[in-house]
Amino acid sequence: MYSRIAGTGSYLPDRVVTNAEMETMVETTDEWIRSRTGIERRHLASAHESTSQMSAEAARRAMEMAGVTADDIDFVVVGTCTPDILFPNVATMVQDRLGIHDCPAFSLETACSGFVYGLSIADKYIRLGEAKCALVIGAETLSRIVDWTDRTTCVLFGDGAGAVVLKASEEPGILTTILSADGKYGDLLSFPMGPSRGFDALRAGAAGGIQMKGAEVFKVAVNTLSRLVDQTLDKAGVDKSAIDWLVPHQANLRIIQAAAKKLDLPMEQVVVTVQEHGNTSAASIPLALDVAVRDGRIKPGQTLLLETFGGGFTWGSALLKF
Ligand code: ACO
Repeated sequence: MYSRIAGTGSYLPDRVVTNAEMETMVETTDEWIRSRTGIERRHLASAHESTSQMSAEAARRAMEMAGVTADDIDFVVVGTCTPDILFPNVATMVQDRLGIHDCPAFSLETACSGFVYGLSIADKYIRLGEAKCALVIGAETLSRIVDWTDRTTCVLFGDGAGAVVLKASEEPGILTTILSADGKYGDLLSFPMGPSRGFDALRAGAAGGIQMKGAEVFKVAVNTLSRLVDQTLDKAGVDKSAIDWLVPHQANLRIIQAAAKKLDLPMEQVVVTVQEHGNTSAASIPLALDVAVRDGRIKPGQTLLLETFGGGFTWGSALLKF
């Protein structure tokens, strides 16, 4: 028994903020942002938009493509580090919005790796026969936790959601996944406030927002992803020449180019959306996947490598037949 992606969907807020608009908010330039990251614009959530609402919209579109209804869904997982509230968790809110009842529903706070972590867990549930039709979602409203006065981080992030329907299948779908993490890097990328440690710093207006040591994150990300690509291919017994599409986490064009080089893959076989979406953390891979499925680039039967890296640090990959 395998699990296979039967549908993809995504949701982006209407509001688009270009690099030119960022220039009016902090001391930056379009040229700096483009040349360092590849980002040209990002979508930002308005007051009526939330992580659960964007998740539900993306899920609805994925369910439509898969031809399944709320009654078919028996597992819901949402990767997010920007839940609407602490609890109920976002996946239960998605259940409620879509009329899904009586199945496991939980969210994962593994930062940018949230979607791949969710995909790997849902795959295991399906392979074990404990679920038949899962919703796996990555969604973020990072704009709510960004410090809009900090030019070193605020230009990087965006909001959105992506989802897949993962169904039991006798044909191979997900071939292998790898999940990993190393907490020793926690301080390099964090949102260092929360219910247990307290929100005092935020209330006092000090050091609010995502904190990142960008250059150090960059180095560890490139090295880790390079190792991860080899580990994933080895584990699946697949040669890199078999890969049709790389669908990477969309944080920085230069990190994506390094991964493509490692695979000897021309950029034409890499799905790149960072220029349009910025870094949407857990939403970035399912968003990119949906874009390339809907514009006809990714076709049934093709081999895809998904890879991600984020706060924690956490990282992960999935090799699959679409
Ligand atoms: N506009 C103009 N100048 C800026 C800006 C900005 N928005 N931000 C920083 N600078 C300046 C800095 O102040 C610094 O100036 P200085 O030399 O006078 O001190 C200079 O630009 C260089 O800063 P660096 O941080 O060294 O720039 P770098 O080339 O490393 O690029 C970046 C920064 C884009 C953040 C890069 O380090 C990066 O992409 N890192 C990886 C981040 C990442 O991948 N995160 C995602 C993984 S996890 C996740 O997705 C949540």
